[in-house]
Amino acid sequence: MSSELVRSFYAAAEALAPEMIARRRDFHRHPELGFQEVRTAGVVTRVLTDLGLEVRTGVGQTGVIGLLEGERPGPTVLLRFDMDALPIQEENAVEYASTTAGVMHACGHDGHTAIGLTVARLLTEARAGLAGTFKFVFQPAEEGLGGARAMVADGALEGPVPVASFGMHLWNTKPLGWIASTDGPVMSAADRFTVKLHGRGGHAASPKESRDPVVAAAHIISALQSVVSRNVDALDQAVLSVTSIHAGTAFNIIPETAEILGTVRTFTPDVRDRVIERFNALVAGLATAFEVESSVEYQSGTKAVSNNAELAARVRELAAFVPGVTHIVAGERTMGSEDMSEFMDDRPGVYFFVGSRNDERGLNFGHHHPRFDFDERALVTGAALVAAAAADYTARAA
Ligand code: NI
Repeated sequence: MSSELVRSFYAAAEALAPEMIARRRDFHRHPELGFQEVRTAGVVTRVLTDLGLEVRTGVGQTGVIGLLEGERPGPTVLLRFDMDALPIQEENAVEYASTTAGVMHACGHDGHTAIGLTVARLLTEARAGLAGTFKFVFQPAEEGLGGARAMVADGALEGPVPVASFGMHLWNTKPLGWIASTDGPVMSAADRFTVKLHGRGGHAASPKESRDPVVAAAHIISALQSVVSRNVDALDQAVLSVTSIHAGTAFNIIPETAEILGTVRTFTPDVRDRVIERFNALVAGLATAFEVESSVEYQSGTKAVSNNAELAARVRELAAFVPGVTHIVAGERTMGSEDMSEFMDDRPGVYFFVGSRNDERGLNFGHHHPRFDFDERALVTGAALVAAAAADYTARAA
């Protein structure tokens, strides 16, 4: 039965491809940065309203939620699509290139929004056979600005409360026909830190009068390299990157202060806690050793996206029935982060990747590149698979 479900959604999505591609190109021409998706949200609101969905706007500033009730009772599931663009000047010479200087859909969220609207239509048209409630969440500001958190704070997870969540990303490092639905952690937690060192400034010619924060910073940065290599299990993953260091004003002055910035990426709370513990110990210990004062500002950011194994496996099973899908993998992971985790939290969820690269057509630049563009046939694959996964879940859980 699931093969029929997938194939019927695929056929319907394919019939809607011209509309979906036109919408994607419209969003691409008019990209909007996080929390400024006013035009995009307007289009989303109009389409969902025209479909007859119950629509809530202004959720987390520019977020939009649409509710669709199936004919039969069943659980509520959340389907999430992000809408924001990036501060990048587009370098593609396509007719649908960005018309806004310095802003570009360079991550594919234009495609995600177009997919979401098509999924809403597919499920609306299939409503007579559906169980449960489908909550379409169109999210602003995914690119590091906290759009998901803002929507959750604004009640996105209430009335009705979803029991499972679904999300996806077009994936330009892999070709069309490739799908990844990974068991467990799939995108990392992303934290950021600022270390401030306060010593005693002085003349470079008499360092013994000073407490040099530059030397302390150098030792701290070196020591931090040992956290992942010495304190994290070799079979776990973590990244600790120092990305910025600032100190000093002149060649002959030992400065008073130094500042170090960076990020920590982890997949599990245990590893995250251990990295933070060692991070703090090394900074405090070395600062003491070098006679400078230290303060650490450690901000826990986006949580890791961790897939429910059963749901992830089900997506792989369904993907096998999608025409054109030739490679289905279970192990794709990235140290990039995603605030889809805010919607998944304690409820089972799955976040999968849909290959969208096409080397022959030159559609093979990476995400966040000024020449990023993808094979639009991936939109059909994505829409069919999201619709099928959500409908399959509510039918089985009803
Ligand atoms: Ni993205």
